[in-house]
Amino acid sequence: MVNVSLKSTEDIEKMRVAGRLASEVLDFITPHVKAGVTTGKLDALCHDYMVNVQGTIPAPLNYAPPGHRPYPKSVCTSVNHQVCHGIPGDKLLKHGDVINIDVTVIKDGYHGDTSRMFYIGEPSIQAKRLCESTFESMWRGINKVKPGATLGDIGHAIQSFAEGNGFSIVREFCGHGIGKKFHEDPQILHYGKAGAGMTLKAGMIFTVEPMINAGKKDIRMLGDGWTVVTADHSLSAQWEHTVLVTDDGFEVLTQSAGTPPMPASLS
Ligand code: MF3
Ligand code: CO
Ligand code: CO
Repeated sequence: MVNVSLKSTEDIEKMRVAGRLASEVLDFITPHVKAGVTTGKLDALCHDYMVNVQGTIPAPLNYAPPGHRPYPKSVCTSVNHQVCHGIPGDKLLKHGDVINIDVTVIKDGYHGDTSRMFYIGEPSIQAKRLCESTFESMWRGINKVKPGATLGDIGHAIQSFAEGNGFSIVREFCGHGIGKKFHEDPQILHYGKAGAGMTLKAGMIFTVEPMINAGKKDIRMLGDGWTVVTADHSLSAQWEHTVLVTDDGFEVLTQSAGTPPMPASLS
C-alpha cells in the first residue's frame, strides 16, 4: 500500500530549512576532503558541525530500519567501489580516490538529505567521467519533475543517459519520499519507462539519488551489514538532492552557497 503525503505550506518551509542545512554540512566539509584524512575524521567533523553549530540531528546515527543493525555513524562515506552507506572509520583517503559523502539532518522534526562526490587530488579520466555522468543523470531526472509527469519519466531520463554513457544503474536502492520521516513512499527508481508509474502532484517531496557503476550493476553487502560495494569492484558514484514538486515544475530544497549548479547543457 503506497501512501504518498502532500506537504503543507508550513511543512515545505521547514523542509527548505532542513534541506539548506544538509547542503551546508557538505559545504563545511569540502575543504577537509583531501589526501591523508580518514573517513572517521570527516564523520567526526560533520557530527560536531551538525550538533554544535547547526543544532541539527544527524539522521543516520542509530538509524535502524527493519532488518538492519543501528547505523553507527553520523554520515555515510562511500569510497571508490563502495556504492553507498559506507561506514566512516580509519580508512585514509589517498590521491586518486573518489568519495561520496551523504548527509541527512533533522531540523525541527524535518529531514534534508543530500550527497555529493569529491575527488582526492586528480581523478582518473574514467572516474571523472563516471562522477560527471552521474551528476548529469541526477539532473536529467530532476528536470523531468512537474505535476502530471510520472515516476517512470524520472527513471527513464536517468537510465537512458547513464547507460548511453556505458555505465550501469544500481537497482536495489532508490530515491524516496521524505519529510518528518527519513524514508517515506514513494520509491523513486532510477530506471524505468517514460510515462509509467505514479503521476507527480504539487506538494510531493522526494529524493533523486542515482547510484551508477562503471562496470556491472550487481552489488554485494559487506559483513558490517551496511556498506554496499560493486560485485565486480568497479567504481561507483552517487549524487543526491531532495526535490519539491511545485505548481509548474520543481524546487531543489538541498541548496546552499556551495551547491554545484545544474549542468549548463540542461538549462
Ligand atoms: N542518506 C541515505 C539515503 O539517501 C540513507 C542512509 S541510511 C544510513 O537514503 F543509515 F546508512 F545512514
Ligand atoms: Co536519500
Ligand atoms: Co542520502
